[in-house]
Amino acid sequence: MNVSPGREPAIRVSMMPKDTNIHGTIFGGVILSYIDQAGAVAARPYAPVRMVTVAMKEVVFKEPVLVGDMVSFYAQVTHVGHTSVTVHVDVEAERFRPYGLRVPVTAADVVYVAVDDAGNKIPAVKDGSGA
Ligand SMILES: CC(C)(COP(=O)(O)OP(=O)(O)OC[C@H]1O[C@@H](n2cnc3c(N)ncnc32)[C@H](O)[C@@H]1OP(=O)(O)O)[C@@H](O)C(=O)NCCC(=O)NCCS
Repeated sequence: MNVSPGREPAIRVSMMPKDTNIHGTIFGGVILSYIDQAGAVAARPYAPVRMVTVAMKEVVFKEPVLVGDMVSFYAQVTHVGHTSVTVHVDVEAERFRPYGLRVPVTAADVVYVAVDDAGNKIPAVKDGSGA
């Protein structure tokens, strides 16, 4: 987990009761979905047309996410290949109670591939300058 002070998250989400399992904590799959979205925000400037997710590496949940938590998803591009872009996403929950307590939840490496409108892979934009 590497969330440096002042670093801006790609997305921040407040967790609602609709996202809980029967134990009252947030579904892991909900967090995975936001990881994918946050990674895509960082990866998008490297896609001339659009990106698809090809792989999400092992994700281990160290702490639960609770209803009312404000969850931040920090995304950083770590590798740009020929057609692929790898993004590291750190997830941190800010507790509703005790208010403001920050807890590292998980991290993931997500790989996106640049594709054209037909879904065929195409070269990524090496410098992330967009289309
Ligand atoms: C993404 C897709 C276009 C790739 O096509 P492909 O012919 O299988 O592509 P390749 O095997 O040549 O891989 C393309 C790039 O992805 C990388 N890649 C593929 N599988 C990977 C994996 N499991 N882990 C890490 N990188 C991977 C390759 O290393 C390559 O990177 P590079 O060009 O930078 O060297 C195709 O697999 C696809 O359409 N998948 C579905 C994507 C999708 O719909 N995602 C949402 C699911 S709901």
